Amino acid sequence: MKVLVTGGAGFLGQRLARQLLTRGQLSDSRGRTHSIDQIVLVDVVPAHDFGDARVRVVTGDIADRALLRQTIDTDTTSIFHLAAIVSGQAEADFDLGMRINLDASRLLLDICRELGHRPKVVFTSSVAVYGGTLPDVVQDSTALNPQSSYGTQKAIGELLLNDYSRRGFVDGRVLRLPTISVRPGKPNKAASSFASGIIREPLHGESSVCPVAPELRLWLLSPRRAIESLIAAHELPAQSLGDSRTVNLPGVSVSVGQMVAALEKVAGPEVASRISFAPDAAVERIVKSWPGAWDVTRARALGLAADADFETIIRAFIEDESEDALTAGKA
Ligand SMILES: NC(=O)c1ccc[n+]([C@@H]2O[C@H](COP(=O)([O-])OP(=O)(O)OC[C@H]3O[C@@H](n4cnc5c(N)ncnc54)[C@H](O)[C@@H]3O)[C@@H](O)[C@H]2O)c1
Repeated sequence: MKVLVTGGAGFLGQRLARQLLTRGQLSDSRGRTHSIDQIVLVDVVPAHDFGDARVRVVTGDIADRALLRQTIDTDTTSIFHLAAIVSGQAEADFDLGMRINLDASRLLLDICRELGHRPKVVFTSSVAVYGGTLPDVVQDSTALNPQSSYGTQKAIGELLLNDYSRRGFVDGRVLRLPTISVRPGKPNKAASSFASGIIREPLHGESSVCPVAPELRLWLLSPRRAIESLIAAHELPAQSLGDSRTVNLPGVSVSVGQMVAALEKVAGPEVASRISFAPDAAVERIVKSWPGAWDVTRARALGLAADADFETIIRAFIEDESEDALTAGKA
């Protein structure tokens, strides 16, 4: 079988590819297990191929029909559609966000429909589909009311995945990911970039300026759990999802102040003292519109799990960074 990962050079795309290569197999929409013969990583920037002959790197724009058509055929049994223009950038560039987050997603689904082979499609949505006046605890059934263009594009993508699944064109699974923290590397253009920066930079001996107040609550998931959830959701039988393909993933609900306290506990007061606060109205407006507490009974019943707490997330980040450094040293 072939697996397509859009956004395959991205943060989650690369981690997912690595995990799929190790795992070596996936089930198709009829529940039959197949070994993975090829993983196609498509992205506007060249993806790392891990030196593995099963990886095919395609560099280009998923809004380009010809390019996308080259990456999907009837052997493409599984698609992880991760390519996106992230929240801050989609807000700054409306046309780009619409073209990639919405138009390209529909194009991908239409190519699957034309081919008629009903692949599994896992789509990464976001807590940004919620907003406005929200209950204290958000349910799967809480009405969507995005307060950003990114959230709106993700909400439309969710509905499309549900309808294309209902019509039998694809076998879709939509995961509303919490904010992923702690993310390695450089800050990105997501409004939530600070949710990693305030932990990562102090651990690297650098100062970090937090653009939101300590009271603000976030809904967080580690990269490890995010990848586990993407694969677990792929493997679920379609009938277990009932009449909605969309699932709110479990996360850890934590205030920024509690994140700083957890950092102090794990790495000491000197590290935690590298964080300062300077509110940024634009970031606060976007992030405040995202809910901080959730009822994830349905996801848990499907076997999807969160990290134990934020301290566990920090410790996992430290472990993953040292593993990444070792792998880079060996390469
Ligand atoms: N990381 C998070 O906190 C988080 C939270 C909620 C949802 N998500 C979603 O998860 C997915 C992956 O997120 P990530 O953190 O890995 O983001 P990322 O920015 O690291 O990866 C996205 C990738 O998409 C690629 N891309 C952008 N435009 C493209 C185009 N036209 N054609 C091909 N590739 C293109 C980018 O180059 C990038 O490598 C995204 O859909 C994102 O919206 C992420």
